[in-house]
Amino acid sequence: MNIPHRAGLENFPPYRQGKTPGGTNGLKAFKLSSNENPYPPLPSVIEAVTGAVSSINLYPEIAAGELTAAIAGRWGVSAENIALGAGSVEVASQIILAVTNPGDQVMFAWRSFEAYPLLATSAGATPQPIPLTADGGHDLAAMAAAVTPRTRLIFVCNPNNPTGAVLSAAAVEAFIQSVPADTLVVLDEAYVHFNRDADTAVGIDMFRKYPNVAVLHTFSKAYGLAGLRLGYAIAAPELVTNLRKVAVPFGVTSLAQTAGVASLQAENELQERIDILVQERRRLHEGLLEAGLPVQPSEANFLWLDSGDHTAALAALFEEKALSVRVFADEGIRITVGSPEANDRILDVARHAAALLAPLH
Ligand SMILES: Cc1ncc(COP(=O)(O)O)c(C=O)c1O
Repeated sequence: MNIPHRAGLENFPPYRQGKTPGGTNGLKAFKLSSNENPYPPLPSVIEAVTGAVSSINLYPEIAAGELTAAIAGRWGVSAENIALGAGSVEVASQIILAVTNPGDQVMFAWRSFEAYPLLATSAGATPQPIPLTADGGHDLAAMAAAVTPRTRLIFVCNPNNPTGAVLSAAAVEAFIQSVPADTLVVLDEAYVHFNRDADTAVGIDMFRKYPNVAVLHTFSKAYGLAGLRLGYAIAAPELVTNLRKVAVPFGVTSLAQTAGVASLQAENELQERIDILVQERRRLHEGLLEAGLPVQPSEANFLWLDSGDHTAALAALFEEKALSVRVFADEGIRITVGSPEANDRILDVARHAAALLAPLH
């Protein structure tokens, strides 16, 4: 049977998951390719989820009342400002579905989170990628200049995945003021907990000031719940109402809801882990710099090596040592900050690599 498929899907790349490493030469393998949290879930979260397992014969509560109230309370907003999804990637998809008509444009910096163009295309919208600046930051002036009457939505990723660059509050505020008031600006803050930049734009502050701003957060990174799929938007009530209409029904499972509530109650404990990861990021950054590798400053739980033509050679060295990192051919390599043991291995490879690949700059 020959079922007709939607035109264009043959050219449509599927989302590429970070590679799982194979063990090499008896070495313990580390997956540093998906910006996951190296810590296991907190005991209190495991206990809550285990307690909820006995009810998985039932559908989850579609409104997720307790979790929605807990998130709203966390940010001092109303429950009508919170839209949930199966990961913030699903919420990003809801936003595109709710805001664009076929052929409308969805703008984002490029390179940035790989799902933006895929989600826009699958929703029937047109991706509008705007090249990053040379230092891996958003070119907000170029983005503002590129807005057309069909640009309905702009993703601003802060810190940016994969470069780790941050945007200042002043720059983002000027940008929001420069785009039409009926263009939605979505501040994607998947890595917000790792951001220690004193001047950074803060999504919730922008949301409070500008009605055309929405903020995206996830439980996958700092909260370590990537496998349960939970994310949310903080947005104007009219947008939230429409996001709930286009959401996958029951997309947020009962276990994800339970884990989300338990995680919000354990934020102090989680903060200790986040602080360690931030210290490890600094140690890795300094070590990579000392080794002479072209590492960029990062405020996320990953580092970007601007390795250009040396990317394939460098990637092979990481692979040989059972480290899977995210490789962007001929552009660079993104390395997730892992456990101290994994980070030590990265630094060992870096010292070796600098000698082999010199000069890298
Ligand atoms: C910038 C950014 N936004 C959103 C996401 C989606 O995260 P999740 O769907 O796990 O919440 C990611 C995941 O890597 C990301 O890097």
